[in-house]
Amino acid sequence: MSDVIILAIETSCDETAVSIVKNGHQVLSNVVNSQIESHKRFGGVVPEVASRHHVENITIVIDQAIIASGLTWDDIDAVAVTEGPGLIGALLVGINAAKALALAHNKPLIPVHHIAGHVYANHIEERLTFPILALVVSGGHTELVVMKDHLDFEIIGQTRDDAVGEAYDKVARTIQLPYPGGPHIDRLAAIGEDNLNLPRPILEGYDFSFSGLKSAVINTLHNKNQKGETYRKEDVAASFQASVIDVLTEKTFKALDTYNINQLLICGGVAANKGLREKMTTLCAEKGIKLMIPPFELCTDNAAMIGAAAYYQYLNQQFTGMDLNGRSNIAL
Ligand code: KG4
Ligand code: ZN
Repeated sequence: MSDVIILAIETSCDETAVSIVKNGHQVLSNVVNSQIESHKRFGGVVPEVASRHHVENITIVIDQAIIASGLTWDDIDAVAVTEGPGLIGALLVGINAAKALALAHNKPLIPVHHIAGHVYANHIEERLTFPILALVVSGGHTELVVMKDHLDFEIIGQTRDDAVGEAYDKVARTIQLPYPGGPHIDRLAAIGEDNLNLPRPILEGYDFSFSGLKSAVINTLHNKNQKGETYRKEDVAASFQASVIDVLTEKTFKALDTYNINQLLICGGVAANKGLREKMTTLCAEKGIKLMIPPFELCTDNAAMIGAAAYYQYLNQQFTGMDLNGRSNIAL
């Protein structure tokens, strides 16, 4: 079969990202324009600010990605874009840019689910071999997904309240760490001690709950403040992170015991967490399970992952028309 080259756009949250990907895994260019500096002073992503930045940046980032790839529109076979979930105003900027490009250059348009993208971030350095268990851990999602084939997603467990990345960001804010808090907690956890005796919220089945853990951190610190006791941020970080990792590994390995799985993969922004990566690597080595985690830069939002997932949609001719709309809550 001849090569398939896809230009992919991702604008679901606070990254304006465009990538050109060949055959679902060769990244010819990958430009990510992060807005983190703008949102930092608000302690989180402000949707309206995100949309405005996407509008300002999208055409520049598209041009940068095309120039970096060394290709022209004659070489590109299709345009892919994140359809959802995400911030609606942010999604619409990418979607409208993708529609304009598809129309102007007469290319098919491929709508991609953001989480499918995160899963396919693992397909870039190595190929996926099914059946797969994917642990999706991002700012908006915490899911265990079984995949028997390309684009075949069965969610077996998910969070009932906060996503794990969201809990990281909220706990970080409680101890005055900048947004996004995940990387800061991760850094401090490495030098702190797990001494706060936080709960390990384990629900029945494969579902998760992180809001109770977040409240337990807040209550513990509140009690200490009232008693005039001091605490170290490093220890808060280490205690919170140890609890999160225990819960994530417990559920993941329970699923691995039950389902017939060839590979475990971890994806989403929290997959960048060093503590989680180390623990999962050690446990998988002990149990003889093949583990895939994307390189750091492909864990957080990017468009290369969207281009990787879009390739399989291209092969299935899963195209959409000019009536494509953003869907902030679309199911996987
Ligand atoms: O996947 P992502 O870029 O965006 C969403 O789709 O949500 O994930 C962002 C999340 C944020 O909550 C951020 O704090 C978290 O990923 N994150 C981390 C780390 N790096 C990013 N959480 C824990 N440890 C990290 N090293
Ligand atoms: Zn994401």
